[in-house]
Amino acid sequence: MIDNIQHKMQLHNGYKMPGLGLGVYKADNGEEINNAIQVALQTGYRLIDTATFYGNEKGVGEAVRKSNIPREEIFIASKLWIDDQGAETTREAFEETLNRMELEYLDLYLIHWPKPSKYLESWKILQELYREGKIKAIGVCNCMIHHLESIRELGGVQPMVLQNEFHPKLIQQDILDYCKENGIQYQAWSPLMRGEILDNELIKEIADKYGKSVAQIVIRWDLQKGVATIPKSVHESRIKENADVFDFELTQEEVNEIDELEDHTRTGAHPDTFMEEMDL
Ligand SMILES: NC(=O)c1ccc[n+]([C@@H]2O[C@H](COP(=O)([O-])OP(=O)(O)OC[C@H]3O[C@@H](n4cnc5c(N)ncnc54)[C@H](OP(=O)(O)O)[C@@H]3O)[C@@H](O)[C@H]2O)c1
Repeated sequence: MIDNIQHKMQLHNGYKMPGLGLGVYKADNGEEINNAIQVALQTGYRLIDTATFYGNEKGVGEAVRKSNIPREEIFIASKLWIDDQGAETTREAFEETLNRMELEYLDLYLIHWPKPSKYLESWKILQELYREGKIKAIGVCNCMIHHLESIRELGGVQPMVLQNEFHPKLIQQDILDYCKENGIQYQAWSPLMRGEILDNELIKEIADKYGKSVAQIVIRWDLQKGVATIPKSVHESRIKENADVFDFELTQEEVNEIDELEDHTRTGAHPDTFMEEMDL
């Protein structure tokens, strides 16, 4: 039973990552992100997921310092943007992230999207930064199995985390299985399908049974499947609601019923076609 918000998942290098974190995509630098992070930390969240692309790394660093919680108790993740990938630019982009956040190290640094012909070069730099101790864990986002295989073929330090779009409509069991076999911790982005899953009738019925919301059932489903999750909200009541998932347990039957909702709907781009989809 995963029974508290500070429950951690052990990565393959032994470093521990909270199973539940706060996503901050589209949270404005300044008051909005500061308020969200203060509420989250007071509620017990200990993981913040940002990215260079979100434009709010500075706000995350400031909010973490303002909280007065020791830096080592908070797990901070950021991501290398597509334009910054490649052998010449990755290290500088990472250093700029650290400078913006005014941090000495990151807990997790991820390649945001696997830019063809560039992400393997970037992965080698992430391996170096990891060996230098500037990042406690390294990983990738938005990968299919063939991306992970090409990283495996490179050799050296392998990803500790894969952050992919994941919700009841998009499970991708083959990638989950691959990660399990290879010691890669799966982490869900858009776990609430950016709000689109919240009116699902089946999940509503399960939610009523436990006196919980649909969002809480989906977050609990992630954790019971062994998937780390980073729902985003900038509203105090929702930040608290999304963390109030440790006083009940879904039955295996309910987990299976939710699994059956998968119809491969995406809210974001496909890892094989994102360059065209994003017009890059
Ligand atoms: N690696 C990647 O490529 C990638 C891509 C996308 C996202 N991410 C990460 O994953 C995080 C989460 O994904 P996401 O932001 O796309 O979507 P999400 O967490 O699935 O959904 C966020 C949306 O749901 C609303 N919401 C949150 N909790 C709610 C609740 N209890 N009841 C009703 N509505 C609720 C939020 O609104 P309010 O904020 O207004 O409350 C927001 O509009 C991001 O913030 C980011 O850190 C990573």
